[in-house]
Amino acid sequence: MFMSARTKRNRMRFMVSACLIAISLSGILLLGANFTVIAQSIDEYVGSETCKECHEVEYEQWKDSPMANAFANEAFQSEWQSQGSPSECLECHTTGFDAASGKYASEGVTCEACHEAGLTMTVNTSPELCGGCHTGSEGEHRYEGFLNGTHASSGVKCSDCHLYEKSHTFEIESKACAVCHTEDDIHDRRMILTLQGEKLEAADKHQEILADLEELQEGLEEDKGKATLITYVAYGGGALIVLVAVIVAVYYYKIK
Ligand code: HEC
Ligand code: HEC
Ligand code: HEC
Ligand code: HEC
Ligand code: HEC
Ligand code: HEC
Repeated sequence: MFMSARTKRNRMRFMVSACLIAISLSGILLLGANFTVIAQSIDEYVGSETCKECHEVEYEQWKDSPMANAFANEAFQSEWQSQGSPSECLECHTTGFDAASGKYASEGVTCEACHEAGLTMTVNTSPELCGGCHTGSEGEHRYEGFLNGTHASSGVKCSDCHLYEKSHTFEIESKACAVCHTEDDIHDRRMILTLQGEKLEAADKHQEILADLEELQEGLEEDKGKATLITYVAYGGGALIVLVAVIVAVYYYKIK
């Protein structure tokens, strides 16, 4: 078999075009794939309203918390806008922030900032979760400062205090401390509660005793009345016996 120069050239042209088409197609596919990955990561978030359908209690507690309003609140908005609305602020003041596109899933710190995107519903109590946004070393309530404190070294987590009884207001109740601080010193909360309880119990006992005493006194009055009657009866009886004896004696001597 022998090919003409023309057929050969045509075949070359066809191969080169096929290669070019293949390269552009895979390029388009690759771009498309990249695009879907970015779009999906934001799409994975369903929003707190969806969680509300089944977790009304947590939703109601959360919705007025500073974290729920971390984007909408005035303090943030005025500070942010005065700086020209830089996108790096959104990392912590929104949920699902994507640095590459500058987009975010929701305003504020929502359910899915702590429980992962979508209906995965994971529970994460590690201080690192909070520390991702609460950075800094001043005091025990910023991550690096917290790590240097006694509570962290004793295994106490942010959530032990800020989610006491799983409350999603994230506020502290003094009772939260009493979960662990039970019998150390005079300022111990549970001790105070116990003492107050004992005081109330003692007051109740006191009332009970007073009531008993009153009952006893009434009984005594009654008994006293009975005793007086018995005494009168006894005196009367005695007098009667003496009288009868005298009469009998007088009568006896008269007969003699
Ligand atoms: C259709 C109802 C439904 C929706 C919507 C829903 N959940 Fe749940 N969730 C449940 C049920 C049922 C449980 C298991 C029972 C329970 O612990 O209350 C649960 C448990 C959880 C738990 C505890 C899991 C564990 O391991 O103890 C978390 C956290 C949670 N959900 C978060 C969320 C978040 C965040 C959303 C919104 C993104 C959400 N849920 C949406 C029904 C729902
Ligand atoms: C690394 C996470 C992070 C970044 C980034 C961040 N913030 Fe914050 N921001 C926080 C946390 C956490 C608090 C709450 C601090 C506290 O109460 O201890 C806060 C509090 C604030 C407050 C106070 C809100 C109030 O109710 O008083 C303002 C205002 C604020 N941030 C503005 C900004 C601005 C503007 C930027 C960008 C320049 C920014 N933040 C970037 C985490 C962050
Ligand atoms: C700042 C982080 C944070 C946010 C925001 C948050 N949670 Fe939680 N949530 C937690 C932590 C931490 C726990 C585990 C508390 C524990 O076990 O001590 C938890 C526990 C839960 C549980 C399990 C409660 C149980 O009885 O076991 C549910 C359900 C839940 N969250 C739902 C929600 C919903 C719904 C929202 C939004 C309306 C939300 N959370 C917002 C941090 C958060
Ligand atoms: C996605 C970032 C983010 C995460 C994760 C996060 N926080 Fe926050 N938190 C914030 C921001 C931002 C604020 C400030 C809200 C405001 O006032 O504008 C805040 C405010 C708070 C406040 C109220 C502070 C005040 O001044 O009253 C408490 C308490 C708090 N966070 C505790 C926690 C705890 C505990 C966790 C972990 C379970 C946690 N946060 C996880 C970003 C976050
Ligand atoms: C031993 C309990 C406990 C632990 C652990 C704890 N906190 Fe606090 N936190 C408190 C108390 C109490 C307050 C003061 C609340 C008030 O004044 O209403 C507070 C206040 C805060 C505030 C308000 C701003 C401030 O600095 O006063 C933020 C934000 C906060 N905590 C975040 C955290 C984070 C994040 C962690 C973990 C890295 C953490 N806390 C660990 C008890 C605790
Ligand atoms: C989950 C358990 C737990 C909770 C909740 C808790 N603590 Fe503690 N706390 C500890 C442990 C453990 C230590 C370290 C052992 C010790 O000093 O007795 C400690 C130590 C302390 C110390 C001594 C700190 C130091 O640097 O020596 C103070 C003060 C304290 N806690 C106050 C509080 C207050 C206030 C609260 C409530 C807002 C609270 N704790 C909640 C477990 C807890």
